[in-house]
Amino acid sequence: MTDHQPRVPVRTFKPRRRRMSTTRASAFERLLPRHGLEVEGDHIDFAGRFGADTAVTIEIGSGAGEAALEMSRLHPDRHHIAIDVHTPGIARLLAEVERLDQTNLSVVHGDALEFLRRVPDESVTEFHLWFPDPWPKVRQAPRRLVQRANLECFARLLVPGGTIRLATDIDEYAAFARQECAQVSTLRWVTVERAHDRPITRFERKGLDAGRQVTDVEMVRVDVAAS
Ligand SMILES: C[S@@+](CC[C@H](N)C(=O)[O-])C[C@H]1O[C@@H](n2cnc3c(N)ncnc32)[C@H](O)[C@@H]1O
Repeated sequence: MTDHQPRVPVRTFKPRRRRMSTTRASAFERLLPRHGLEVEGDHIDFAGRFGADTAVTIEIGSGAGEAALEMSRLHPDRHHIAIDVHTPGIARLLAEVERLDQTNLSVVHGDALEFLRRVPDESVTEFHLWFPDPWPKVRQAPRRLVQRANLECFARLLVPGGTIRLATDIDEYAAFARQECAQVSTLRWVTVERAHDRPITRFERKGLDAGRQVTDVEMVRVDVAAS
């Protein structure tokens, strides 16, 4: 593993065990092979699979899948890959993909940092990180999704000019992310207005109800010589 590989051994998620109804569990088993991509395997040929001119976006931590569905509806010219370890959320998203026949949305059930080993360099137009788990204690910092080693990996997988889009309602997380981004020479940090294509997700709703402010950021891949 090189310095630019994602840090898989440190998990960025907490395992959540929640039982699914038998109907949902059997739909999950039936639909995952149809709409899913395997976590492990060879590099994926995005152009061959989704079309030569199709931009690919990857959402890490899609939760219940609201943003993934909205993004793929609003951007039919792109292929969207939504990843989460949370089985009921993925089951719900699979059911919606099937119901809406959303052919430009693929689902990955598993650790995104493992899946990214299948993603070729310079092949992703956007990463979407909506309300990543904050891991607020200092000793938990190695578990944060947004940290230098992972940002270096995302930057390498982005096309030049591509973007890592982050939204968080935890001010300390935004400050930490900014520091980590500053250590990656190929990324430039830009605070932005909330974009029209980002729907309010379940975790954002919780934060808003608790009175928290949301920070939206784009970390743009820049040419090293120009940075
Ligand atoms: C705080 S929730 C936010 C969910 C959703 N984006 C929202 O705004 O409602 C963070 C999600 O990220 C997922 N997650 C964290 N690390 C992950 C990883 N390495 N691979 C896949 N999913 C991950 C968790 O399982 C969880 O569902």
